[in-house]
Amino acid sequence: METVKVSASREYDVIIGADILSDADGYIEKALGGRPRLAIITDDKVYSLHGEALESALSGFDTVKFVFKNGEASKNIRVYGEILEFLAENSITRTDAIVAFGGGVVGDIAGFAASTFLRGIRFVQIPTTLLAMVDSSVGGKTAIDLEAGKNLCGTFWQPSLVLCDWKLLSTLEDATFSDGMAEVIKYGVIRDRELFERLLMGGVREDPEAVIARCVSIKRDVVNEDERDTGVRALLNFGHTAAHGIEKLSNYEITHGRAVGAGMVIAARGAAKLGLCSPDVVEDIIKAVRLYGLTESCEFSAEGLCEISLSDKKRAGGTITLVLPEKVGSCILKKIPVEELCPFFESGLR
Ligand code: GLY
Repeated sequence: METVKVSASREYDVIIGADILSDADGYIEKALGGRPRLAIITDDKVYSLHGEALESALSGFDTVKFVFKNGEASKNIRVYGEILEFLAENSITRTDAIVAFGGGVVGDIAGFAASTFLRGIRFVQIPTTLLAMVDSSVGGKTAIDLEAGKNLCGTFWQPSLVLCDWKLLSTLEDATFSDGMAEVIKYGVIRDRELFERLLMGGVREDPEAVIARCVSIKRDVVNEDERDTGVRALLNFGHTAAHGIEKLSNYEITHGRAVGAGMVIAARGAAKLGLCSPDVVEDIIKAVRLYGLTESCEFSAEGLCEISLSDKKRAGGTITLVLPEKVGSCILKKIPVEELCPFFESGLR
């Protein structure tokens, strides 16, 4: 078992281990300093797979639960409103807490509800996907989607505890595990060559604890330095500028991780063409994405990707910040005028 301590606007532990869900009672009591009422927020898929295990682990708490339909389509203003009404109807008070039990969608919407209900109540993240364990459950970004795009409405609101029981990953479909691996590869490229080399050896699914802990430590370091995302936190967007375009142009048929896999290759190839890194970096990233069931191929045009990216929240006025590798383990942030984005994607696509 490993514990990573985050020191952002709230201090909290990220505990990573096998079969630790059954000990959730003790971890939550310690983190919340007692036994408040808990509102469990989860989706129907996670609840049918692991709901009983969670409820049995939390049987010493007074709990209520809200279950919504699995999938990104639920991360909207209507479900968010339903969660708020549910919390109010069940008399959740300012000293109570939310437990977000699920993948990124559950963590994002439950966290957003926690940050706004009664002007903010505490919440605990119990992520059930690799992507949520290594990325979205840590660092305090909460969000819902708007018609105009993903994550356009949200807050910074840190959890009180993150409990990563990696044994829960055993029920993940291969494609969903691969989605999380895209974020894992990202951490290797932005900060840790050793982690990247470990990934190229394969076998992460069988033994993920050290890899999850390493990713969480990298995220912790970045968040501790730039919680509000005004500087270095942008490094976590490596591969995501093109990825958001790919997801949207595919009508979200292409999942986030798959899009990030291709987006990292586009960013690296563009960087190599600018002379910022060697073409070997592109080859290494292609090797890693393929090894974990992802792909570098992208069927969309530079113009299409560019149009979406420029309506994304990563744009700041007339500029957009690219995350570009210098080598595996080190990336830089490069601010470019928006007019240069389309030629950059063009050079990254082939
Ligand atoms: N997932 C990117 C961030 O937390 O900043």
